[in-house]
Amino acid sequence: MTAIDNDPGVSHSRGAKVQEILKTDTRPVPKAFLDFASPYVGMEEVPKSRFTSPEFAALEKRYVWMKTWQFACLEDEIKEPGSHVVYDVADESLIIIRGKDGLIRALHNACMHRGTRLADDEGRVDSFMCPFHGWEWDNKGDLVNVPGSWDFPQFLNGSKPTCLPQAKVATWDGLVFINFDLEAKPFHEYAAKMIDHFREFPLSKRYKAFHAVKEVDCNWKVLMEAFSEGYHVLVTHPQIVAFCGDENSEYSIYPDNPEVSRFFNPFGVQSPHIVETLSEETIAEEFVAFSSRSRGYADQTRPEVPAGVEARAYVAETFRERMSAMFRANLDNYSDSEILDAVLYHLFPAFAPWAGIGQPLMYRWRPGRTPDTAFMDVIRMVAVPDNEPKPDPAPTARLRREQRWIEAPGMAGLADVFEQDMSNLPFVQQGLKSTGKKTVTYASYMEGRLRHFHKMLDMYIEEGLRADGKSLDVLDPHRVGAQLD
Ligand code: FES
Ligand SMILES: [Fe+2]
Repeated sequence: MTAIDNDPGVSHSRGAKVQEILKTDTRPVPKAFLDFASPYVGMEEVPKSRFTSPEFAALEKRYVWMKTWQFACLEDEIKEPGSHVVYDVADESLIIIRGKDGLIRALHNACMHRGTRLADDEGRVDSFMCPFHGWEWDNKGDLVNVPGSWDFPQFLNGSKPTCLPQAKVATWDGLVFINFDLEAKPFHEYAAKMIDHFREFPLSKRYKAFHAVKEVDCNWKVLMEAFSEGYHVLVTHPQIVAFCGDENSEYSIYPDNPEVSRFFNPFGVQSPHIVETLSEETIAEEFVAFSSRSRGYADQTRPEVPAGVEARAYVAETFRERMSAMFRANLDNYSDSEILDAVLYHLFPAFAPWAGIGQPLMYRWRPGRTPDTAFMDVIRMVAVPDNEPKPDPAPTARLRREQRWIEAPGMAGLADVFEQDMSNLPFVQQGLKSTGKKTVTYASYMEGRLRHFHKMLDMYIEEGLRADGKSLDVLDPHRVGAQLD
């Protein structure tokens, strides 16, 4: 047990810390789970303008989204020559495509004549023809036809390149990443800590069983932050506090690779917010009953948990058996923690794969065309059944603003929790425009990782402005810690 105190960056809620809980596991936990680091990141206020100002959004686009590695798609989604997906971020767009030579490219999705967007959706093509005047590129991005070509000597005499401009591409464990900056440092350096940890959670041994994307009326950081801390659980998801160690979550920021961080929310322990001590049987019963709904198991009767059980071990074994049957895969070696806990890694700026197998999700957040809109992708990466070929990836369900998550086929019981998360966010965005108080106030520990994200944004923007020989004045009023109130 940890004493309650108020030392910034050090204090923890009462109840067992994650590292103490891991010691009780019935199996060895992955080494990656033992690698935690929670440096103190300060107590500064964070200006609201960072979420609402077109000026700050423009800085983010130029110096963050144009400079960082971003998850684009799975290699399995573009297996055949000509197969492609479209990756939109802010007002930029790329076509991620496998060429007839087998290579993956990220082609800028804009006609080289007068700019028309060339592709809107995933598919498979030998070539792209611009719908305006008919210029055409093959699936390697080479210009192959220009109607009235005699009138474009600048393209045909070699004085202008004819290949669509490209972004940088990297692949890692079945995932495709892009970077608009051709000078960017290699992906394996940028994401080193995540790559190292995920050796124990190989994503290439999973397949995409579900994918939905939805536009939401809030800034991309509001959306991302709603999935990056356990502080909101008590009030936003009260149905899970009996078995969720919300306030005991561990938040890691890795100083030697600050683009990578981790949110580790233990389950099968009661929330420190509940004053009375719940019995292990009660915790187990509540957890199994909830998860039968949210994980889509057919048997949703309330379980009878034998007296004297340890909640985490009991529930983990129950889920291990159920998931083994459901996935047709032997999960016997998975630790209780991998089965039960929510362990979200975060690759700056906005990609979050979960480790473990209980909820094998990946999240992606992207800015929309204004600071007031964003997109969230939810992907479920399920274990490939033993001795069976890898199933094809599920198609992407696109939800309109007014649609609910439950309308995405396969979202099942997860949708309730997502609706709870999302329902607040347009109101958050609205309140961020209120001028009564000009900053947001994050908690020292539980929201320290959010403050860290913002400091990373400032660091990238400052570096970019300096490299361009520009004044920092444009950043200063929006900086973390700016004196505004
Ligand atoms: S804008 Fe594309 S061919 Fe004219
Ligand atoms: Fe939530």
